[in-house]
Amino acid sequence: MLILGIESSCDDMAAAVVEDGEIILSNVVSSQDEIHKKYGGIVPELASRRHIETVIPVVEEALVQAGHAIADIDAIGVTQGPGLVGSILVGLSFAKAVAYAMDIPFVGVNHIEAHPMAVFLEERVQGFKGSRVQEKNLQSAIHNPQFPFIALVVSGGHTSLLKFNDFGDYCIIGQTRDDAAGEAFDKVAKLLGLGYPGGAVIDKLAKEGNPSAINFTRPYMQDTLDFSFSGLKTAVLNWIKGQEGSSSMMGNAHPATANLAASFQEAVVDTLVFKSLLACKKSSINNLVISGGVACNSRLRHKLSEAAESEGINLFIPHPKLCTDNGATVAAAAYHKLRNGISSDISLNAYASL
Ligand code: KG4
Ligand code: ZN
Repeated sequence: MLILGIESSCDDMAAAVVEDGEIILSNVVSSQDEIHKKYGGIVPELASRRHIETVIPVVEEALVQAGHAIADIDAIGVTQGPGLVGSILVGLSFAKAVAYAMDIPFVGVNHIEAHPMAVFLEERVQGFKGSRVQEKNLQSAIHNPQFPFIALVVSGGHTSLLKFNDFGDYCIIGQTRDDAAGEAFDKVAKLLGLGYPGGAVIDKLAKEGNPSAINFTRPYMQDTLDFSFSGLKTAVLNWIKGQEGSSSMMGNAHPATANLAASFQEAVVDTLVFKSLLACKKSSINNLVISGGVACNSRLRHKLSEAAESEGINLFIPHPKLCTDNGATVAAAAYHKLRNGISSDISLNAYASL
């Protein structure tokens, strides 16, 4: 079954063609970083307007790269929420129109459900070793995580822990009470004058810093599986204000910036590792999947791999390019819904807080 997956919930317009829910034939992402950079964050109105311009070229490119015509597509999967409503509506309206015109089924997919599907995907691209590998040994035999598994979805919009019993059968067991982890990375990067999006920049800069230089409090909140990152962001701000000549603290040229980036990152990573292991322990599940843009973070990948190994937990981390928003994960989630006889009606609406 050939599925066209469309994702437009935030600032990326993405489309992919996926065969039988696991073979990526194409995976095209059009980023808007250049547009939002100068505002230090996403401007929703600009994002949706740009989506209108890119949706057709991105889908056409995905079809060309897959070597298929739209007439070959059996069904469409599309993000229904959560996200920016104007952004979601562009992809959703387009998917509905194409499905109607081609007389094929379409199904709305929850963006948070789609992210962990990255671990079930393989790609027919030269030099790409597949995503279903464990971080510890990239040459290890490719295999799927067994159900049930715990999924940490950690991105610019979400920080959620989910328990997956099967495809499409999951529940949220923890989530952030304020900022998402990626949002905290982006806001701290903005405070430091490092640009947008901030996660990858902090990740790189932190390699030159000392993660123990500043001991930021870890927001563990002990027994709950919920997260809170806004206090940490404020602690960073207060630390900057407390420095002599703090105005010169901007930019990555300042010697203290790398230590601050490394110490902030360490606090976020420690929290994500602690909560993920706690979720596994509380649920008595030893399969853990992580996905979402922050799952690209090298320190998180490293520390979680070590912690999972010492706790006897099987950790599955997708290739970084499948961690960030893409259409392939949406197509994979749609495949399992369609196989279970679930499809959507033309009246399906977008839900910002699905
Ligand atoms: O999943 P994603 O592409 O979009 C959302 O659904 O939000 O995630 C984007 C987020 C941004 O906040 C970005 O700063 C963060 O992922 N991110 C990272 C890294 N790469 C991207 N955060 C930490 N370390 C990274 N290497
Ligand atoms: Zn996402």
